[in-house]
Amino acid sequence: MSNVKFYKGGDMPLELHKVRVVQKLHLVPIERRMEALKEGGFNTFRLSTLDVYLDMLTDSGVNAMSDNQVAAMLRADDAYAGSQSFIRLQKAVEDVLGKKYLLPAHQGRACENILAKAFIKKGQVVPMNYHFTTTLAHVQEMGARVAELYYDRAMELKSDYPFKGNMNIEKLEELILAEGKENIPYIRMEASTNLIGGQPFSMSNLMDVRRIADKYGIMLVLDASLLGENAYLIKQREDKWKENSLGEILKMMTGLADIVYFSARKLTSSRGGGICTNQRELYNKMEALIPLFEGFLTYGGISVREIEAMTVGMYETLDETAISQSPEFIKYLVTELEKRGVPMVTPPGVLGAHVNAMEFCSHIPQDQYPAGALAAAFYLISGVRGMERGTVSSTRDENGKEIPADVELLRLAVPRRVFTLSQINYVIDRMHWLYDNRHLIGGLKFVYEPPVLRFFMGGLEPTSNWPNRLMEKFREDFGDSL
Ligand code: F0G
Repeated sequence: MSNVKFYKGGDMPLELHKVRVVQKLHLVPIERRMEALKEGGFNTFRLSTLDVYLDMLTDSGVNAMSDNQVAAMLRADDAYAGSQSFIRLQKAVEDVLGKKYLLPAHQGRACENILAKAFIKKGQVVPMNYHFTTTLAHVQEMGARVAELYYDRAMELKSDYPFKGNMNIEKLEELILAEGKENIPYIRMEASTNLIGGQPFSMSNLMDVRRIADKYGIMLVLDASLLGENAYLIKQREDKWKENSLGEILKMMTGLADIVYFSARKLTSSRGGGICTNQRELYNKMEALIPLFEGFLTYGGISVREIEAMTVGMYETLDETAISQSPEFIKYLVTELEKRGVPMVTPPGVLGAHVNAMEFCSHIPQDQYPAGALAAAFYLISGVRGMERGTVSSTRDENGKEIPADVELLRLAVPRRVFTLSQINYVIDRMHWLYDNRHLIGGLKFVYEPPVLRFFMGGLEPTSNWPNRLMEKFREDFGDSL
């Protein structure tokens, strides 16, 4: 994006890229979308892309690649060991993230598996600004637990608090004193805190966390999957950093952490993942786990072509026009929906726009999954696939009782440089219509519930025939429109 003013005023994001490779999309009629929902257990993860118009499920692995990334893929050095592709990636990681030891892993959660296995012991607790689904699952797999230490304001969905991703420093110190520092393997900070709406932390907060980590001799781990966007929002929102380049901000952030790990599916618009550090002894503790779970140390389960794309993507993280595109589209989407009364998470974050499903569907009790219902309803009436981020993405306790999520959100991901503004305007139009007809949406119940990460493959069904009523109203209002 750029600082371009329009003749008659107004605020509209302007693309600084052009589209050179395209993919055909399918906007199927609502009757087919109803069938697709039934076949997919009212779970948007289980839809086929042939039935999806705009895929706003995630940005993970679906950001648009640049011409330079695609070009680099052709020169990949396919060797089991000692590949030049990996050596180029190591250099990019050192140049951009400032860490010289790199362990490759096939994606972000694989890094979490390695970190958990190397450092976490049963009964321990891992403090975080907020959990991510796969992070939590790996901590729990080790018999440990997560302590989420956020400020109360982070849970106010409609807010002007610029740094909802901040860690609550007072609570962090209290936790360390209560649990004992020997029971805390590391503190985890997640850039652009995903599950509360892609909300950043501030640099000063990260510095405070570092100070506490030093005081008690605890390691600090940074989840850098959405690091570029967090850095961009620090530049936008934290006065002290507005004159610094993205590169300087990134280096400052990673410099405060002992270990940095990332999903390259997000950070570098490719596939893959990585763990990096400047401390040889930490690297040594993880090294042996890579060949065991991922692949040899110079590919880590990632195709060498993707490693080349990661390398170029790593450098492109320094390009403000590339990194700002998605956050600026999200800001537009959130602002326009808010104007139409739709309850949105504010301030606009990164990764996607987040609809407050608890308020949108205030008539649906939380144990009937308002965010899941909203995701299904929105797909039905638009062909746009979002992702439930609420109680369906949560778990049950050991007695089988639902643990209601803190927030019920529908996430509409805006992957980098994928959608046009007219497509975003379509999303706004259909969401506006759904909001005006929200009373027609009903609840969901599980009919198939896997024990771990149930949101991926779980099957649900509506608690009444509300999808039919919604479809009838759509036909009434839109005639034979797709
Ligand atoms: N950490 C964060 C902050 C993430 O957002 C993700 C993935 C991961 C770790 C795991 O990485 O998918 O490469 O294994 N987020 C995706 C999403 C799944 O849709 O938000 P992964």
